[in-house]
Amino acid sequence: MFGAGYVGLVTGASFADLGHEVVIRDVLPDRIERLQAGEVPIYEPGLDEVLERNAGRIHFTLDMAEAVEGAEFIYVAVGTPPTHSGDADLSAVWSVVDGLPADLPGRPIVVMKSTVPVGTGGHVRARLDERGLTNVGYVSNPEFLAEGSALADFMSPDRIVVGAFQDGDGDRVVSLHSAIATEIVRTDVPSAELVKLAANAFLSTRISFINEIANVCELVGADVVDVARGVGLDHRLGPHFLRAGIGFGGSCFPKDVTSLKQLAGNSGYPFLLLQAVWEVNELQKRRVVAKLQKHLGSLRGKKVALLGLAFKPNTDDTREAPSRVIAYRLLAEGAEVRAWDPVAHPDDLQGVELCDSVLDAVRDADAAVIVTEWPELRSVASPEVRDAMARPVLVDGRNLLDPVEARAAGFVYEGIGRPRHASPADLQSLRELDAELRH
Ligand code: UGA
Repeated sequence: MFGAGYVGLVTGASFADLGHEVVIRDVLPDRIERLQAGEVPIYEPGLDEVLERNAGRIHFTLDMAEAVEGAEFIYVAVGTPPTHSGDADLSAVWSVVDGLPADLPGRPIVVMKSTVPVGTGGHVRARLDERGLTNVGYVSNPEFLAEGSALADFMSPDRIVVGAFQDGDGDRVVSLHSAIATEIVRTDVPSAELVKLAANAFLSTRISFINEIANVCELVGADVVDVARGVGLDHRLGPHFLRAGIGFGGSCFPKDVTSLKQLAGNSGYPFLLLQAVWEVNELQKRRVVAKLQKHLGSLRGKKVALLGLAFKPNTDDTREAPSRVIAYRLLAEGAEVRAWDPVAHPDDLQGVELCDSVLDAVRDADAAVIVTEWPELRSVASPEVRDAMARPVLVDGRNLLDPVEARAAGFVYEGIGRPRHASPADLQSLRELDAELRH
C-alpha cells in the first residue's frame, strides 16, 4: 500500500482485517516512525483499534523494495492535489510507478486507489510497458470512503468498481474483496476512473443545488429544511446530500470538481454545470460574512467566534474547509477571530486565535458562527454562552439548531435558508444582501 494517508491507512487496515498481509509504505519518515510506534497520525474513528487488532499483519516502511517484495497487489493511495492550473498533480503517482523495481516476479497488479484524471491508467500502462514491466497488471479501483465513516464505508460499500485492461487482473482484485457482499461494477479503466470523478461531482452538484434553493428560500420566505425533506422523499431523488449550509470543503469535492471541469476543458468540452457548482460554493462561504455585516454593520474591531474548523464533523481535516475562507474574509474585514474545534487544531491559520473551549471562544464576542456541525454544538444556545457574549448574534452555518429554541434562549439567530421565523424587516435585508452579493 503506497501512501499512509486517510485512504492508504483505512484501506490497508481494512484489508488486514479481512485477513490479508499488508505493508504500508510512505515517504514521510515521521509518519512511518509514529505508525511503527503504534501511533495513528490521523483522526478517523475506530482506525486505532483496527490497526492495533491487526498489528501482526501490517508493517510500515519507508523502503520501496521492502514494500513490493512478494506483493500480489501494489495499491497506490497517494495524494493527487490540484496544481495551480486545476489539473491533478500526479507526481506522487509517478514516483511510485517509476520507482517499481524492474524485475518484479509473477504478475503483481498495480491497483489505483488515488483519484486520478481519466486516461491516467492508460499512461501508467504505457510507462510500465516501456520499462519492460509487461508482467505487471493494472486495475483502477476507485475509493468511495468518506472521512469519519471510512472504515464502515470500506466494509459495507454501496459498490466496488473495478476497471481492468485484462479480465484476469480484474478477477483477482474482485476476489480480494470476496468477504464483502456488495454490487461489483466491472468495466474498462477509463470508465472506472470517470465513475469516481462523476460521483463526487454529482454529490457536489446536489450540495450547490440545495444551497441555491436555500438562498431562494431566504428571499421568498420558505424553509430549506422542509423543502429538502419534501424533495428528498421522492425515491427518484433520495434524501442524501441535500443539507444546505456554508458550502462543501475537504480534500475531495473541491479537488474533484476542479479536476473534472479541467479534464473536460482540456478535452475541448466546457463543463458549464460544474463551473456553476464551483461558483455557488465560493459564494456560499462568503454569504456568512455578509450575514454578520447585516447584524453588526462594519466588522472592523468586532470579535467573531468560529465554532468548528474541520470541513465536517468527525475529522480533524481542515483542507479546503469553509472555515478557512470565512476566517480570512473576516480578518480582511478587520474582525478579531477566535475559533474552537474539538479535534482540528490547524497551525497555519495565521491571525486566528485557537481556543480550548466554546466558552473561551465566545467570550465578549459580537457574534458566533457554527461552521462545523459537531454534536457538541447542539447545546450551544445556552444561557452561559449567551451571557458570555457581548452580543448574542448566532449564525448557524449548518442549520444545526432549532431556530425557535435558539431565539427563545435569547439569541439573535440566523440559519441558512430558514427565514420562516424572520421578521419582514429581516426578509427585506436578506433581499438587499442577496442583491449586494450578486454585484
Ligand atoms: C467524499 C465522498 O462522500 C466520498 O464518497 C469520497 O470517497 C471522498 O469524498 C473521496 O473522494 O475521497 P468526504 O470528502 O470525506 O467524502 O466528505 P463528505 O461527507 O462527502 O462531505 C464533503 C463536504 O460536503 C463537507 O464539507 C460537508 O460538510 C459537505 N456537505 C455534505 C454539505 O454541505 N451538505 C450535505 O448535504 C452533505
